[in-house]
Amino acid sequence: MNEKANKTVRFPENFFWGAATAAYQIEGAYNENGKGESIWDRFCRTPGKVQDGDRGDIACDSYHRYRNDIKLMKEISLKAYRFSIAWSRIFPQGKGQVNQDGLDFYERLVDELLDSGIEPFVTLYHWDIPQALQGKGGWANRDTIGYFKDYAEEVSRKLGDRVHFWITHNEPWVVSFLGHHSGIHAPGIKNLSTALKVSHYLLLSHGEAVAILRDNGDEKTRIGITLNLSSVYPASESEEDKKAVKIFDGHLNRWFLDPIYKGSYPEDMLALYDDKVPEIRAEDLERISTKIDFLGVNYYTRTVVKADKKEALLGLSSVKPSGAEYTEMNWEIYPLGIYELLKRVHNDYDEPVIYITENGAAFPDKIDKNGRINDEPRIKYLKDHFLQAHRAIEDGVKLSGYFVWSLLDNFEWAHGYSKRFGLIYTDYPTQTRIIKDSGWWYKKVIEKNGV
Ligand code: BGC
Repeated sequence: MNEKANKTVRFPENFFWGAATAAYQIEGAYNENGKGESIWDRFCRTPGKVQDGDRGDIACDSYHRYRNDIKLMKEISLKAYRFSIAWSRIFPQGKGQVNQDGLDFYERLVDELLDSGIEPFVTLYHWDIPQALQGKGGWANRDTIGYFKDYAEEVSRKLGDRVHFWITHNEPWVVSFLGHHSGIHAPGIKNLSTALKVSHYLLLSHGEAVAILRDNGDEKTRIGITLNLSSVYPASESEEDKKAVKIFDGHLNRWFLDPIYKGSYPEDMLALYDDKVPEIRAEDLERISTKIDFLGVNYYTRTVVKADKKEALLGLSSVKPSGAEYTEMNWEIYPLGIYELLKRVHNDYDEPVIYITENGAAFPDKIDKNGRINDEPRIKYLKDHFLQAHRAIEDGVKLSGYFVWSLLDNFEWAHGYSKRFGLIYTDYPTQTRIIKDSGWWYKKVIEKNGV
């Protein structure tokens, strides 16, 4: 990319430059105006689950400060904002009685965005299922699909005339495997069969929700799902390590992409998971592969794997290449990976319209004596990824927008408040926001529509 270092590369017209957040990570107001308990409210109160015992009770207090946050979005010239709806604000018990206050809150948020010329991209599920449903088995209970449909119905009936971009789920791999296999996320279950069942029901609920969102929308409505995908590389040229690549790709990428785009689960993974695979009914795959309008891709890092017989599930482990640079999450900085991933999805899955729905980096930001946050490493991270994404566009990939994770520092799940991903700094004790240098830099990118 060096040859381009001094030239501005331009992105397509009407490219959606945005930033993303999720309800539990920013809203706070965890029990206000009728909101019910979610699994993350519960998980954070379970000792030892979240770093420093942090919880999202207040988070960035965006439930109360959303108007101010939208002003900041305008200040940095955002064209689009991706946020999620807290299911337990709409259905405090997960089903049954609707909480009108919850719907009204998101209506105010959407209207304020539209008045500010910012396009809302709405995620229905970013990991916070109502606790009441978890009590009945949560995503491992097939009935949850029906409750999710009711939730999609209520929300899209209210907002479908104004929200044109819908994302059913955020990262079903994380929900399935971090929530139900490693157990490091809520609800903290450690069981492979459960994790696989959850992945199937999440995908099924996605397909069902697509039809509902479509019905409640209009000709401008665009519907997709967001997957956390990674480009996978072998630790060595050995046959074993190359096999490990195929398996990890099957586990992380193809297990979700194939059913959505091809209407089938990958044969090699069905064989590998064997008797842990849940019952898949004939009509399920048809539902899951309901046509969507775009794919949301969250990309943070690549994955390097080696064969490892000690690892029971996949027989492989990931390797941290030495000499590479890492973010504060200990994720390798590998911009080329976004290019290779975008090309691969384009080639293997029907050339879909793609949005990068998340990309960004955590660094230990500090306020300097002038009150500024000089986050040069984040600027470099974003710039290098933007350039690689641009290369993919030049090669024909239909990338139509890019959302930086995150608009502001927020609750980073099991890491609590210890990791800062924001373009805007959050001073939690005072809830003061400070636009970081990366935020000012991003503003220029957006205004030039290029890097
Ligand atoms: C999630 C975000 C999270 C980010 C950084 C993604 O997996 O969608 O909620 O904060 O990565 O870890």
